[in-house]
Amino acid sequence: MSENDSGHPPDLMNKLVSLCKRRGFIFQSSEIYGGVGSVYDYGPLGIELKNKIQQAWWREMVYRHDDIVGLDAGILMNPEVWVASGHVGAFSDPLVECTNCHRRFRADELTEIEAGLPEAQQCPTCGTTGQWTDPRQFNLMFKTFMGVVEDEAATVYLRPETAQGIFVNFKNVQDSARRKVPFDIAQVGKAFRNEITPGNFIFRTREFEQMEMQFFVKPGTDEAWFETWKERRMAWVESLGVRSERLRLHAHGKEELAHYAKAAFDIEYRFPFGWQELEGIHNRTDYDLRSHQEHSGKKLEYFDQAANERYLPYVIETSAGLSRTMLVVLADAYDEEKIEGETRVVLRLDPALAPVQAAVFPLVKKDGMPQIAENLAADLRGRFNVIHDATGSIGRRYRRQDEAGTPFCLTIDGQTTEDGTVTVRDRDSLAQVRIPVEGVAGYLADAMSPAP
Ligand code: GAP
Repeated sequence: MSENDSGHPPDLMNKLVSLCKRRGFIFQSSEIYGGVGSVYDYGPLGIELKNKIQQAWWREMVYRHDDIVGLDAGILMNPEVWVASGHVGAFSDPLVECTNCHRRFRADELTEIEAGLPEAQQCPTCGTTGQWTDPRQFNLMFKTFMGVVEDEAATVYLRPETAQGIFVNFKNVQDSARRKVPFDIAQVGKAFRNEITPGNFIFRTREFEQMEMQFFVKPGTDEAWFETWKERRMAWVESLGVRSERLRLHAHGKEELAHYAKAAFDIEYRFPFGWQELEGIHNRTDYDLRSHQEHSGKKLEYFDQAANERYLPYVIETSAGLSRTMLVVLADAYDEEKIEGETRVVLRLDPALAPVQAAVFPLVKKDGMPQIAENLAADLRGRFNVIHDATGSIGRRYRRQDEAGTPFCLTIDGQTTEDGTVTVRDRDSLAQVRIPVEGVAGYLADAMSPAP
């Protein structure tokens, strides 16, 4: 297979977009109306994969550690939250407009403007050179109105990160769950950003999901915890089956640091369009708790009984995009191979993440085979996500499941009716073995790696 520099098959993004639509992973939002800018819907296979990644994250972050609890805060919050967090003042990108075609761009994505030479910058849309407005800051938060009056006083924001829901609930959680520092709160949920340049499919969208954790620590212990979480998070991404040679850590330079961060690392993935951020790990110090304490007038300090001292904890944050992690998993799993002159497209997903774990086929629709297949599928359901497919040639059915990433196909054929065995076809090796029908559940359980 010829491959480009990133090691992915050529033209992978276009191939992924069309596979995701064809197999029911991801659709453009409101497609029948021509779509809406950079919002996506997750179809029957997409929601399975997304849920499995989310569950794997929750297992890792909440269940595997004694010091972590979960939360699900509202998307709409008191607008003061976003003043205190700094988002009203500082969550913006520099925007320039081409005065010829009136298209707007992020100034930091236009090379000549970045270099201080706007007169040499060509407009990527209309080709005009040097016709630019001065950069102005564009806030990325979506606004809406609460209640019946549409005025400034009723303005609320769609949250641009889930993190603030955690900070403002710090005391509630700490008091009710009776946690001692260090402890951590984890949350998964929607976030919204009016991105100036969304794109690359689900990489940068205007509505997306985040999996965030805020780890509250005693000041002074923050740097050691920061190192621990860098290692834990990288190990988790690898546990999803993502190739380690396509992952790296990138340290933020001073100019890159977010307004709240003392230090930050990104876990980057080598996408077909280059190295890009998958997850951020930030040392947020006591920036957020201090700011919320000042703005709300409510004490958010932690009282350490053993040491008899009060302090505002520092926070180590790990912030991953759920939809972006899904793109990484899909891009890394996509493979093409030539078999007998034909190209086979296969998603080599970790079996524990595969939307469908086994597909059951009757070879033909006669001689009792459909009934045996339906019974076997019914038997396996509940323990595994199983589908039953009796339409099309057996070759076509295998190809559909290869594209869906289904690790095992179980075929009922003439021999099944004689000796009660079925063939199990392995998606990756294409090896086929015959096993007794009643041994299938045990076989699948053994073959399935434990969930990450
Ligand atoms: N609370 C910190 C925070 O939100 P961030 O680096 O802005 O930090 C964290 O975002 C993660 O959220 C990113 O690493 C990325 O995976 C995901 N993310 C951010 N903006 C996104 C977008 N427009 N579309 C999809 N995912 C996005």
